[in-house]
Amino acid sequence: MSDPSGRTTLVVGAGRGLGRGIAEAFAEAGAPVIAVARTGAELATLAATNAGIRTEIADATDTTAAWTLLDRYEPEVLILVAGANPVMRPLQHQTWETFSVNWHSDVKIAFTWLREALLKPLPPGSRVVVVSSGAAINGSPASGGYAGAKATQRFIAEYAQDESRRAGLDITVTTILPRMTPHGDVGRRGVRAYAARSGRTEEEFLKASGDLLTAETTGSALVELVRAAPATSAPEYLLAGTGLQRLP
Ligand SMILES: NC(=O)c1ccc[n+]([C@@H]2O[C@H](COP(=O)([O-])OP(=O)(O)OC[C@H]3O[C@@H](n4cnc5c(N)ncnc54)[C@H](OP(=O)(O)O)[C@@H]3O)[C@@H](O)[C@H]2O)c1
Repeated sequence: MSDPSGRTTLVVGAGRGLGRGIAEAFAEAGAPVIAVARTGAELATLAATNAGIRTEIADATDTTAAWTLLDRYEPEVLILVAGANPVMRPLQHQTWETFSVNWHSDVKIAFTWLREALLKPLPPGSRVVVVSSGAAINGSPASGGYAGAKATQRFIAEYAQDESRRAGLDITVTTILPRMTPHGDVGRRGVRAYAARSGRTEEEFLKASGDLLTAETTGSALVELVRAAPATSAPEYLLAGTGLQRLP
């Protein structure tokens, strides 16, 4: 078991949605939290909730931001949750620009931060959590290149874990695949699009989705994950309203 209190935790994409729930949960568990996003107003309201939360306004796709913030804070826990809102349209209504939105954000963020985490490197015993999506397994026909981008994040996390092992860095990289939830902008748009696609109202669609993941349950699941000894941790977990479920 590893107590998150006192372990500097850098949450990339913490202004709203699932990332905000993660930042709040780690701060409540006693970790000094660095919350990163591009919108200062959202970060300011987050920082007002807990004196243990510091904020940094930065674009996480920017390589300079990644190495600067890792050098400045030397986090022992790094959580990559930032991602773009996919453009919800059927394939034939996508353009290459709309189709590839998540490749230029989510994939670039995973690549950039994991690369810098390995090069620095983060201190031995560090944990990195990459928030991918259940869409990486199931596909997502109404969101262009989103599912493929989230699948590529899984590969990048796996490659980074292998490089850490080969270099004896003792950094544990874990991928989380949340189910769609309206408690974040990405899922909210997904619910709207898939409800319309299946001829149901959003309420009907959500009722059929079972226990919904919230920002709070996401935060407590990640605190639980980081508390567990790395040796007992699986490389990947699905995350639903009922909690974490390891992938084989
Ligand atoms: N919600 C779901 O149902 C669901 C399901 C599966 C997976 N996910 C994944 O979970 C993650 C969060 O989803 P969400 O629904 O909570 O999204 P969200 O509500 O849109 O929140 C995304 C957060 O990331 C920040 N962000 C985005 N791009 C950034 C960048 N380039 N640099 C810095 N910060 C950035 C946003 O702030 P700024 O815009 O101010 O920068 C915001 O604080 C995404 O990776 C998403 O793919 C979500």
